[in-house]
Amino acid sequence: MDKKHYKVETWGCQMNVHESEKIAGIAQSLGYVPTDDEKEADLIILNTCCVREHAEAKVYGRLGRLKSLKRKNPDLIIGIGGCMTQQKDEAQHIAKRYPYVDFIFGTHNLHKLSEMIANAKGAGSTIVDIQEDGYGKIVEGLPVERDDRVKAWVSIMQGCNNFCTYCIVPYVRGRERSRSREEIIKEVRGLAVQGYKEVTLLGQNVNSYGKDLEKPVDFSALLRELNEVEGIERLRFTTSHPKDLSEDLIFAVKDCEKVCEHIHLPFQAGSTEILRRMNRKYTKEQYLALAGRIKKEIPGVSITTDIMVGFPGETEDDFEDTLDVVRKVRFDAAFTFLYSPRRGTPAAKMKDQVPYGIKHPRFLRLLDLTQKISAEENAKMKGKTVELLVEGVSKNDPARLTGRTRTNKLVHFTGDANLIGKLINVKVTEPRNWSLYGEIVRN
Ligand code: 5AD
Ligand code: SF4
Repeated sequence: MDKKHYKVETWGCQMNVHESEKIAGIAQSLGYVPTDDEKEADLIILNTCCVREHAEAKVYGRLGRLKSLKRKNPDLIIGIGGCMTQQKDEAQHIAKRYPYVDFIFGTHNLHKLSEMIANAKGAGSTIVDIQEDGYGKIVEGLPVERDDRVKAWVSIMQGCNNFCTYCIVPYVRGRERSRSREEIIKEVRGLAVQGYKEVTLLGQNVNSYGKDLEKPVDFSALLRELNEVEGIERLRFTTSHPKDLSEDLIFAVKDCEKVCEHIHLPFQAGSTEILRRMNRKYTKEQYLALAGRIKKEIPGVSITTDIMVGFPGETEDDFEDTLDVVRKVRFDAAFTFLYSPRRGTPAAKMKDQVPYGIKHPRFLRLLDLTQKISAEENAKMKGKTVELLVEGVSKNDPARLTGRTRTNKLVHFTGDANLIGKLINVKVTEPRNWSLYGEIVRN
């Protein structure tokens, strides 16, 4: 009999990308093989995001289009899970409006996905299985089918306790739960044996890793232990919260030769008053001081960030504070977002929402500045020799390979495919806004 095919479609952050690797692992354990062609698929699973309205709108659009696919192929199994379905009453809404969806799962019950896929056909109506509370222990041992052969994601914790007032994540991902130190080390060692060279540790707030464990472990101590795993060449982590980033962590990044000099440190807004209303628990001055400490202690470090424009009550002066932080820190890259009200969060109920006509021009001004600064920072790399981990063939130009610097900058260069997975030195010849071009330095 012909093999059955599956396709996983992913929206959202790296955590979701990694969870899709687990969804793929589960589908493969049931005998499905991957396909990129929706017409060939017997199983399509949407792994969704709800952090901004835009992400949700795209999923709804996709759900709508799946209807005709299902009409042509009634045996097709359609499942939807992830952050969007975990929102209050959302699963019931989807089941009602899109009855051709076969099953709906949430963020806390991936371990039940096998059963849902297996039972989908016989059920007769949409199976809805959302586990409400996010306090349960992390389920270990799910199969994982990783997309990449050089770099791997490793989740070290789930959930978030911070309740920034704009953010839906604590509601859909539950409270912070750390994986045990032993499980993480075992997974990273296993990846080294499989030939992986780079590991990125994932969590909504990695700086508070381990505080909830029976025997608490500090994140910097975990990094120091992972630095000893033979075969792994590079370690990265994301995301850091400025209120929790410790001196110990700065020194762990400085001391550990495998830990890359790159810190993603979202600041969200420059104005201390807006930060207070966001419940971020730091001031503009504290953020600037922290960025200064990091730059002083870790030579050549790159700092990247997330910034939000148009939080309720943001005045022109508040926005100027955001621009001021960008000018002072000079981020290597910044992800910029328009504030998007999320159902059930405190900020969505705040009175002074900023109209689109005001927040959008601010967003464009911010984008202009962040892009100008990133381009200037990239331009400084011209003529420098940097170490790259070669990741694969360039997506834009099949004649070239790409790799990343320790500071996470993408570099395109001409080279032989047998360099994939290796560390090499490249001289930067042509910096561009988003990436760099270079040539191999022969020793
Ligand atoms: N609106 C806009 N951006 C948001 N983010 C989180 N919640 C919202 C929201 N409601 C952004 C933050 C966060 C990033 C992952 O998404 O900047 O750091
Ligand atoms: Fe959301 Fe804040 Fe938690 Fe990040 S730290 S996931 S922005 S609540």
